[in-house]
Amino acid sequence: TKINWDAEMAEKQGYDHFMLKEIHEQPESLKRLLEDNLKDGKIDLTASGLAENWLDNYDKIHIVACGTAYHSGALAKYLLEDKLRIPVEVEVASEYRYRNPIVNDRTLMIVVSQSGETADTLAALRLARSKGASVLALTNSRDSSIARESDMLIYLKAGPEIAVASTKAYTNMVAAFYILLIDGMRQRDDISEELVVNYTSDLIKLPEMIRKLSQQSKEQIEIIANKYAQKENIFFIGRNTDYTLALEGALKLKEISYIHAEAYPAGELKHGTLALVEENVPVVALGSRADIFAKLFSNLKEVKARGAETLLITEENQKFEADSVDYLIELPVLNKDFAGLLAIIPLQLLAYYTALNCGEDIDQPRNLAKSVTVE
Ligand code: G6P
Repeated sequence: TKINWDAEMAEKQGYDHFMLKEIHEQPESLKRLLEDNLKDGKIDLTASGLAENWLDNYDKIHIVACGTAYHSGALAKYLLEDKLRIPVEVEVASEYRYRNPIVNDRTLMIVVSQSGETADTLAALRLARSKGASVLALTNSRDSSIARESDMLIYLKAGPEIAVASTKAYTNMVAAFYILLIDGMRQRDDISEELVVNYTSDLIKLPEMIRKLSQQSKEQIEIIANKYAQKENIFFIGRNTDYTLALEGALKLKEISYIHAEAYPAGELKHGTLALVEENVPVVALGSRADIFAKLFSNLKEVKARGAETLLITEENQKFEADSVDYLIELPVLNKDFAGLLAIIPLQLLAYYTALNCGEDIDQPRNLAKSVTVE
């Protein structure tokens, strides 16, 4: 198939695995996406086929995808609803396609897919389209079935992704949603031009921040990964967009290390999962959002009190009680809506180095395929 051909042709360029190479490619692949969708320092989505004031054309948004792509949509829901005040539903394609969703010609259907060929996502797209929705695809393959059958397209331009565990495509999916968010904010009377300008300049800063972060965090992460490789269960907690990063961090770890990992909304822990937290169980707490950091931190203290080994990922100037935190990874300071994405770098590296310690086949994990074209 095409995927294997690509794999043979591509080189690891000195990296031990494609996954590590692709993690380190993120500043460049992100820059490509931004350059395509910025003109004179402003977001310009003309090439996507979206109307200038597209928000006026829709009453609601459905975001449908699978796996990692779904996690990018889960993050987008928080931001799009908060800023654009339009109802957003996000769902995995295998559920959406069999449940008769409420769709009409004022529905914007956003499908997200690295390969553009995932069978369930394609079926969901066709279903929504048959009910009159306009379909916007976010995909990394311009000549895929999903790209062809959509009305509008944001081409992710992450470049070929060989490792089964998705890294750089995820980052560009989230960034594509950030682009869409800013373009929607421009159309809102209740959002100042200043905020639009600030968010745009924060977006432009992302590639360089990601580059620095992937250099800095490596040693600390290797120490933590060494410990994690001995564990049976690892929990990830977060609130709001950080919860969706927790989902993606847990998925990355599961996919390649085969260690059971579970993401939980931090405030929901006490309704079940807390029963599993005992001495030395690792809990990764994602606290990139300054606005709700205190709430997240109180959940971190709850698990610490039960003996958990805690890793906190938060902004570098965040204040907290250090005795509850066993390991700390600091992120550069960015607006609360975009800061979460920075956490993906340590999360990807953590999954990678943990799997390396476990001796697993990182690029080709058992039972998983890069592109799932059958149901
Ligand atoms: C497979 C891959 C995942 C991916 C998912 C959706 O399960 O192993 O990494 O997230 O499919 O793929 P897509 O190409 O639609 O983004």
